[in-house]
Amino acid sequence: MENNKLLQIMDLCVTYKTQEGLVHAVNNLNLEISDKETLGFVGETGAGKTTTAMAIMRLIPCPPGKIEKGKIFFEGEDLLKISDRKMRKIQGKDISMIFQDPMTSLNPVMRISEQIMEMILLHKKINKKEAYAEACKLLELVGIKKERADDYPHQFSGGMKQRVVIAISLACSPKLIIADEPTTALDVTIQAQVLSLMKDLKDEFGTSMILITHDLGVVAEICDKVAIMYAGSVVEYASKEKLYLNPSHPYTKGLFNSIPKLDTDEEFLEEIDGLPPEPTDVISGCAFNPRCPYCMERCEKEKPGITYLDKEHYVCCFLYENK
Ligand SMILES: Nc1ncnc2c1ncn2[C@@H]1O[C@H](COP(=O)(O)OP(=O)(O)O)[C@@H](O)[C@H]1O
Ligand SMILES: [Mg+2]
Repeated sequence: MENNKLLQIMDLCVTYKTQEGLVHAVNNLNLEISDKETLGFVGETGAGKTTTAMAIMRLIPCPPGKIEKGKIFFEGEDLLKISDRKMRKIQGKDISMIFQDPMTSLNPVMRISEQIMEMILLHKKINKKEAYAEACKLLELVGIKKERADDYPHQFSGGMKQRVVIAISLACSPKLIIADEPTTALDVTIQAQVLSLMKDLKDEFGTSMILITHDLGVVAEICDKVAIMYAGSVVEYASKEKLYLNPSHPYTKGLFNSIPKLDTDEEFLEEIDGLPPEPTDVISGCAFNPRCPYCMERCEKEKPGITYLDKEHYVCCFLYENK
């Protein structure tokens, strides 16, 4: 394993047992992220993005969820093998997570100062007064006046609540922040503000980040690398520049075509035909083959492996094999 890899996921498989059958939410997923890097994790609803994030945090509800196999190396140690106690030390301190809906992370009956202090006191050996001062500093950092430290979550707007959540996620200077659609629940104008705050803080603290989103505009704004996910696997991975210049997987091309173009009057977006597979379907061959305009006979039978188009760009598609 290379040393500058902060996180490396190998062959991760996660399933959920449901009444309709076994859902293969994550299928042989491979992914890595280096120090100080921001990875955009893009895909449609149901692609397995949240499940991957929860697996890293070891928060998959079990049952119905189960990590069937795989390794998740964080700073050289497999998170799936360490003790619960050690994992709790890593959660929040080394890796923190920001969820889509800030209310999932905030306790409605606790003052926000207390919630930030709780995280600080859990991981740092300082007294309450010092923790309170740190909480105020963190609030100012995310653009909330310290006079509001003793307010309750309901006294804040959605965007402000998400700022509080960001302050909590930064409380222990984590090495990695996993942000799961952190702005999807917010108004569009507020989204931009919160994203630019996250970008500034990430640059200032040198934190690595996995940013889960279905919005390629957000990726363009913040990310260094991009992983495109389809039906539980990464189908294309590249630096942002290479992906935007040369989107290669038919699914990625479809995603780019479905972005509204500002310079035309087109009312309709060219969307990707068809629907993602049913979660319980087991598709033979490439998972995208039923929707793929370039589908060949072998795509229905064999799963494509990784083909490197460039040093920092790979795609899982037979179109590029032996090229
Ligand atoms: N707790 C759960 N129980 C059963 N199925 C689940 C559960 N959580 C997620 N799934 C299923 O796993 C698949 C991946 O979901 P998810 O990871 O939430 O995708 P995404 O975040 O990309 O929208 C979906 O088919 C979803 O229905
Ligand atoms: Mg999700």
